[in-house]
Amino acid sequence: METAAAIALQGFKGRHMLDFTSLSRKELQALLALAADLKERRKRGEPTPYLQGKSLGMIFEKASTRTRVSFEVAMFELGGHALFLSGGATQIGRGETVADTAQVLSRYVHGIMIRTFAHDKVEELARHATVPVINGLTDDHHPCQVLADLQTIAERKGALKGLTISYVGDGNNMAHSILQAAPLVGMNVRVATPEGYEPKEAIIEQARVFAKQVNTEVWVGHDPAVAVAGADAVYTDVWASMGQEAEAETRKRVFAPYQVNAEMMKLAAKGALFMHCLPTHRGEEVTAAVIDAPGSVVFDQAENRLHAQKALLVATMSDQLREW
Ligand code: CP
Ligand code: NVA
Repeated sequence: METAAAIALQGFKGRHMLDFTSLSRKELQALLALAADLKERRKRGEPTPYLQGKSLGMIFEKASTRTRVSFEVAMFELGGHALFLSGGATQIGRGETVADTAQVLSRYVHGIMIRTFAHDKVEELARHATVPVINGLTDDHHPCQVLADLQTIAERKGALKGLTISYVGDGNNMAHSILQAAPLVGMNVRVATPEGYEPKEAIIEQARVFAKQVNTEVWVGHDPAVAVAGADAVYTDVWASMGQEAEAETRKRVFAPYQVNAEMMKLAAKGALFMHCLPTHRGEEVTAAVIDAPGSVVFDQAENRLHAQKALLVATMSDQLREW
């Protein structure tokens, strides 16, 4: 399995990971296989020094717990080094251009991870960097989270193909990455948001194009009950994302009917998973009872950030994939 994954990922070195459009179905499967393998090896206490001597620069212009810690630990456990570069404490926060920052960092590090607001900033960074750029969350996408989420669903359900994931809430970065990734792994995807909070039309269209190729369903609407009916996984996220704090009170009112609670979970398939990227506002987008119920996999999702990102880091930055 590992060898097949390594072969599928041979063209991956140096590639940026800004969203799911840069991945083929085969490459995504291979990344997930690699992630599962790295998780097993960690459990057995086997060293995995595939990034010895390599450094990852991590630019953070928004807060983070999981992304920062999982990338930092991932680099350490792969034998490399991670540098935390807070936006405010670096020259990028004082107006040094993205292009100059990209070129300077590329002279030092072997990969750059960035968490920021506008997605086009990450695209600009990638255009000017000569090392791979990984999107650690923008206003539009959160691919690293969804990579870990797919690993989590596969672990719990055995396979991904044919399953239905339903996302209820804001048509935000999480909704976008789920819409992009689901068809790539043969999953049906449904998204229910309040009116005016839909995912971007271009991303819905793109998901429909992918889905048509693999004969899966993409449904985007407003009724959470329709979205969740018979779903294998029910996903939600905060109602006000980072940068939307001023809208929090309005959003609480608008999103109230979209709360994932025990009643809503009853509409899903028997044994359906509850998923959330975290952090959560217990009692807002989801009740504490649902987060703490046996079907909730939120902490597995958080753990899998470590394994899935290790796979991504190895695939984009390691010289040793051929010898896997
Ligand atoms: N899910 C996620 O990205 O968490 P952090 O904001 O803590 O990194
Ligand atoms: N949608 C959330 C996700 C946090 C991991 C945000 O962007 O703040």
